[in-house]
Amino acid sequence: MFNNLKAMEPDPILGLMSAFGNDTNPRKVDLGVGVYKDDAGNTPVLDSVKAAEALLLERQQTKAYIGPAGLEDFNRLMQVMILGPAHPVLAGSRAATIQTPGGCGALRAGAELIRRARPGAKIWVSDPTWANHIPLLGSAGMEIVQYPYYDSVNKVISFDAMLETLRLAEAGDVLLLHGCCHNPCGADLDLEQWQVLAELALQRDLLPFVDLAYQGFGEGIEEDVAGLRLLASRVPEMLVASSCSKNFGLYRDRTGSLTVVARDSGQVNNAISQVCSATRGIWSMPPDHGAAVVATILSDMGLRAQWEAEVATMRKRINDLRTRLVDSLASAGAGDFSFIARECGMFSFLGISPDSIASLRREFSIYMVDSSRINVAGLSDDNIAYVSEAIATVCRDSRNSGQV
Ligand SMILES: Cc1ncc(COP(=O)(O)O)c(C=O)c1O
Repeated sequence: MFNNLKAMEPDPILGLMSAFGNDTNPRKVDLGVGVYKDDAGNTPVLDSVKAAEALLLERQQTKAYIGPAGLEDFNRLMQVMILGPAHPVLAGSRAATIQTPGGCGALRAGAELIRRARPGAKIWVSDPTWANHIPLLGSAGMEIVQYPYYDSVNKVISFDAMLETLRLAEAGDVLLLHGCCHNPCGADLDLEQWQVLAELALQRDLLPFVDLAYQGFGEGIEEDVAGLRLLASRVPEMLVASSCSKNFGLYRDRTGSLTVVARDSGQVNNAISQVCSATRGIWSMPPDHGAAVVATILSDMGLRAQWEAEVATMRKRINDLRTRLVDSLASAGAGDFSFIARECGMFSFLGISPDSIASLRREFSIYMVDSSRINVAGLSDDNIAYVSEAIATVCRDSRNSGQV
């Protein structure tokens, strides 16, 4: 049976990880992989998570199945964290949440729901978008189309072009938006732009699908969902895929949720029963551990405060690194990278040429993906000057040889 199969090309990020692992240069720097790192280059288990795990070890009475929708407490607490306790959608019982294996599971579950509700719907994604959106949504059978989003010359959102393209969307199409900390470009919509998009979705009958993978990593846990909350207060229907991988550091525990907003409680219950029936045929039931940890943290005032402080530390580190990188690149003579400080979350494009990216890897053991997206959290006190000088050198070489 398997003699017909050819090997797949390795995933570019996984290929980068393995090249980095095999590099023996002690100065090597990984700016590729999308996980948060502290100044020592580690992705530690949060203290609040450790404390919640200790409580679970003591209290948990069973490992029996939890059911296709996952842990009820987790679902309720996630809904409140995303929408806020006083959101009109919650007052009207128009939202329901299920637990999913990570944000990826939520995206896939959302796509399955859309396919059942409106089989021919297209999904509009930003150009650029997170690379995994394409296989995740595409494998549910959705046609994917792109709208312009990031102007890589002026380093701003191409909002007019985005709107112009979205006017081509048909009623019932889906509009995928990044809730905050856009991956890969770091450029986020402001509230006025969220408002305009809400009106557009309303007028053209588009279903907003918000991917929220970095709540708390931009401006704050509440601030990062202001746009999403505004959108939810305007449109009758909406989906939110949320991930606890980054803000709770639960990457490998595969913890996330899908929230469905519908016109009334009857429709939302119908929709959730359809999602559960779809996911029953894919992963059957979500893993429990990560969701149990999140529910323990969010329902305990002390643990919650500890977790919020840990998220604030991660956010502050990323934002400080952005400012320091801009200064350090300028001092090294690399030029004006001030846009990096205006962007937010873990990612930004450096905007350097493929040759420069290859030279950084070959000559300096500095690894980033081919689009020049960097994970700012991969920088540290130890490597920021080294990275800046290396970038200045390769940009100079590239200018001298006539490439940009
Ligand atoms: C934009 C975006 N969406 C969703 C995810 C899904 O994350 P996970 O499935 O690990 O929770 C990620 C992870 O990197 C992401 O960057």
